[in-house]
Amino acid sequence: MFKQVELDYAFDALEPYIDTLTMQTHYGKHHASYTANFNKAAEMAGVQDQSAEEILSNLDKIADPAVRTALRNNGGGFYNHNLYFSQLSPNPGNVPTGALADKINQTFGSFDNLKTELKRLALGQFGSGWAWLSANADGDLMISASPNQDNPISEKTGYFPILAIDVWEHAYYLKYKNLRGDYIDNLFQVIDWNKVSENYCKIIK
Ligand SMILES: [Fe+2]
Repeated sequence: MFKQVELDYAFDALEPYIDTLTMQTHYGKHHASYTANFNKAAEMAGVQDQSAEEILSNLDKIADPAVRTALRNNGGGFYNHNLYFSQLSPNPGNVPTGALADKINQTFGSFDNLKTELKRLALGQFGSGWAWLSANADGDLMISASPNQDNPISEKTGYFPILAIDVWEHAYYLKYKNLRGDYIDNLFQVIDWNKVSENYCKIIK
C-alpha cells in the first residue's frame, strides 16, 4: 500500500511563501487522489508489491495501455509529490553542504547558477509539469524538466530526482495566479537543502 509522506510541519507553517489553502488542497486533495489511484492501478497491474521507483522504471512491461497510463500519471503523481512535500520546511537549511555543495559548484559553477538554471527550466515548462535536480549512482548531477507527472525515472534517464519543483497551476495559482516566477522564487525560501543533501547521499553508491 503506497502512502503519502507524513508532513513534519503544519499546513500553515510555510506561510507566507506557500499558503495554507494551497497546502490543504495540494496535499489533502491532489496528492491524496494520485495516491489512491496509484494504489488501484498497481493492484490492477499486479505490481503492488514493487517500489514506486521499480514500477515507474518498468512501465513498458505493463501490457494494458490504460493501466500503463494510469500507473504513469498516478504513480508519478504519488512519487513526485512525496519528494516535493518532504523537501519543504519552515526552518530550512538554506544552502547545500558537504558532497552535494562541492558537486553543485563543480557542475553548475555556483549555487546561484544552479537556482537560476532551475528557475529557467521551471518557467520554460509549457503547461503542467516539473523541474528537477537529479543525481545518478556515480554522483553526477542533472537538471531537467518533465511534462505532466513524468519524471527522470519514468523517462529512463538513469538519474533519480533529489529536488522537485512542481509547476502545475494547482501548486501556486490560488496565491500567485499567473506569476509562476514569483512562486518559484518563494519556493526556494522553504526548500530544505539538508533534505536535498540527504536525498543525494541515498542515491550515490
Ligand atoms: Fe502538484
